Amino acid sequence: MKKICLAGVAALVVLVIAAAFFNPAQPGSESPLGFGVVRAGGAEASAAALVDPAATVADFMQVVHGPKGLRMQVQAALSGSGPADDKAWRMVQARAAILGLLTTEILQNAKPQKGSPDSWKALVNEYQKSSEDLILATRAKDRRASFEHVALLGRSCKSCHKAHK
Ligand code: HEC
Repeated sequence: MKKICLAGVAALVVLVIAAAFFNPAQPGSESPLGFGVVRAGGAEASAAALVDPAATVADFMQVVHGPKGLRMQVQAALSGSGPADDKAWRMVQARAAILGLLTTEILQNAKPQKGSPDSWKALVNEYQKSSEDLILATRAKDRRASFEHVALLGRSCKSCHKAHK
């Protein structure tokens, strides 16, 4: 009896949540999650929406280079004997891919508040090259090469901060 009651309550909760998110609006209008416009706008609009203008270079630095950030996670996974199995490699590959995506979308599109645009472009291109090399090396499951590329990213801070931070 108790079990049936619980199941009833659970079903009710699911229904209430489903009702809250159900949105009969036409494609192109805003969904409760804010993705409706993206779907209607095509690839360009969805890329733009993914990079909310509020995602700044400082946000990138926190997420990628902060303590326990993306780069540290990749670097830690590649230390020692490296990822133990395919599943562990898959995670490293995914993190490298996301790091590359964030580089393209945030750093490449950012205008430096300090320093010249040409210098920024050169430094970001160099950074992006390392992140692309990292992606390729993780796809090839080459631990040593992957580690070298992520270490390069780890040494990129000083020259860029000196010019642009
Ligand atoms: C391509 C240039 C570039 C590279 C490479 C770079 N940074 Fe930055 N970083 C910046 C800029 C520009 C800022 C200032 C952002 C702002 O305040 O708007 C910044 C800010 C930061 C901040 C402060 C973020 C905040 O919340 O204000 C941290 C932490 C940081 N960087 C860490 C690092 C570390 C660690 C590395 C290297 C492993 C690194 N960065 C590499 C350009 C770079």
